[in-house]
Amino acid sequence: HFTQGHYQPLKGKKVVITAGPTRERIDPVRYVSNFSSGKMGYAMAAAAQKLGAETVLISGPVELTVPSGVQIIHVESAADMYDAVLSQFDDASIVVKSAAVADYRPKSVHTQKMKKKAGDDVLELERTTDILKSLGDRKEHQLLIGFAAETTDVIAYGQKKLESKNLDYIIVNDVTDPGGGFGSDTNVVTLLSREGEATPFTAMPKDQLAVRLFETILQQEGGKLD
Ligand code: CTP
Ligand code: CA
Repeated sequence: HFTQGHYQPLKGKKVVITAGPTRERIDPVRYVSNFSSGKMGYAMAAAAQKLGAETVLISGPVELTVPSGVQIIHVESAADMYDAVLSQFDDASIVVKSAAVADYRPKSVHTQKMKKKAGDDVLELERTTDILKSLGDRKEHQLLIGFAAETTDVIAYGQKKLESKNLDYIIVNDVTDPGGGFGSDTNVVTLLSREGEATPFTAMPKDQLAVRLFETILQQEGGKLD
């Protein structure tokens, strides 16, 4: 009964979801980014909408169709994403950070296209702000849900991120698993909760998985959502 259209446990709640990669400009024609397709984040947005939420999707550059009824905010860089998320944070019930935020950006952005010259073979980078960690530091009533893609020690690294970013849940996946990962339409994940529960999910399409993840989280919260 859970996935029927009339079952709307998130009705009256605002859910904010980030998706896709960010792009960090080097100059007007070049950038630093990653291979995130945005599929898992868009599936999370479609699921939140289907479960009745007022859904805001903050998306980096991807080639996907915005699920109908979902409010979209397009962003490019980690800094843009940070501003957009903060502007939506206060009245959000749930924030899901599916985005693959670039960890580094070029130290200086050149306003003109860079030209090749001797001795210019090093690109200086600096850290971007950890958006999720700063949300964790300031959260009040919001349920904070992170994602982590790992290649080794998946559960241990996930648990560490859950704690260090003050999250309520983290959804971890082993990107080397043939059943999922970047660009795939399916995914294999484990949901970790702040209470120490670990719920594994078998390989399934990302849209189906997204609904299951929200249902499981709502069950574990016991209907207590602000
Ligand atoms: N995240 C974020 N802002 C950043 C980097 C990451 O909000 N600048 C969020 C991601 O959206 C994700 C979670 O933090 O929900 C975990 O991202 P991940 O890249 O796995 O972890 P990092 O903390 O960046 O650590 P590392 O990449 O070194 O493993
Ligand atoms: Ca990272």
